[in-house]
Amino acid sequence: MIDPNEIEKMASECRRLSPQAVLELALSRCHKIAIAFSGAEDVALIDMAVRADPRVSVFSLDTGRLHPKTYRFLEKVRDHYSIRIELLFPDAAQLENMTREKGLFSFYRDGHKECCGIRKVAPLKRKLATLDAWITGQRQDQSPETRTDISVVERDAAFSSAERPLIKFNPLAEWTSAQVWQYIRENDIPYNELHEQGYVSIGCEPCTRPVLPYQHEREGRWWWESRELKECGLHQGNAEAGER
Ligand code: ADX
Ligand code: SF4
Repeated sequence: MIDPNEIEKMASECRRLSPQAVLELALSRCHKIAIAFSGAEDVALIDMAVRADPRVSVFSLDTGRLHPKTYRFLEKVRDHYSIRIELLFPDAAQLENMTREKGLFSFYRDGHKECCGIRKVAPLKRKLATLDAWITGQRQDQSPETRTDISVVERDAAFSSAERPLIKFNPLAEWTSAQVWQYIRENDIPYNELHEQGYVSIGCEPCTRPVLPYQHEREGRWWWESRELKECGLHQGNAEAGER
C-alpha cells in the first residue's frame, strides 16, 4: 500500500517535470499501476510509457458501445506496441436489467449517469481495487467547466478510502491539445481514424459526435446535457468541481 505522505512527496517532485519524466517516476515508484486508455489521443501516454517500461499495464473500459473505429484502433495499438490491453466489461446482470427496463438509449431521455455508472464506473472500481495508482490522459484544457484544476499527481478523490489511498497520475494535465497532437505527429504514432472525421474528444458512439471548427471539444460529448454535467464518474472530483 502507498504511504499517504508519499503522494505529497511525488506531487512536489513532479512539479515542472515533462509528461515523460512524470511517467518514468510513476512507473518506477508504484508497482501496482496501470494506464487507463480510452482509445483517443491518450495514445500519446502509451507511447511515452512503453519507452519507459515495455511491460506497462494498460486497460480500457469496454462499455459495449464504443465506436467500431475505436475497437479497431485498440487492436492497432495492441499490435503496434506489442502490449496487452486488458478490456474490462460491465456486469452482465446489471446491464440486462437496465436494457430490459429502459432500452438501449435511455441516456438521451434521463441522462447518462445510470448507463455510465454500469458500463464505465463499476468496472473501473473493480479494477482500481487491485491497484495503488492509475494513470489517465486527462488535461486541464479538455473542459473549462470541470477540468481546469486537475493536478499532475493527486490522491484520487473518488476512489481512495481511508484505509487504501489511491494515486492518480495525470501526466498530460498541463499540456494542451496542440502539444499532444504535435507529439503524435512528430513521433508518427497511430491514431483513431475518427480524428480524421472531425471528432476531437472520443467516448461511446451514441454519446460522441464531431465538432465544428472552433467548437470546444467537450461539445461533442453528451451534447444534449448541460456543460457542467459532462463528466461520467470516472473522474468524480471534476464533476464535483463543475457543480460548485
Ligand atoms: S470521460 O470521463 O469524459 O469519458 P475522457 O474521454 O475525457 O473521459 O478521457 C479522459 C481520460 O479518462 C482518458 O485519457 C483515459 O485515461 C480515461 N478514460 C476515458 N474513457 C476511458 C475508457 N473507456 N477506458 C479507459 N480509460 C478511459
Ligand atoms: Fe452509456 Fe453513453 Fe455513458 Fe457510454 S457514454 S456508458 S453509452 S451513457
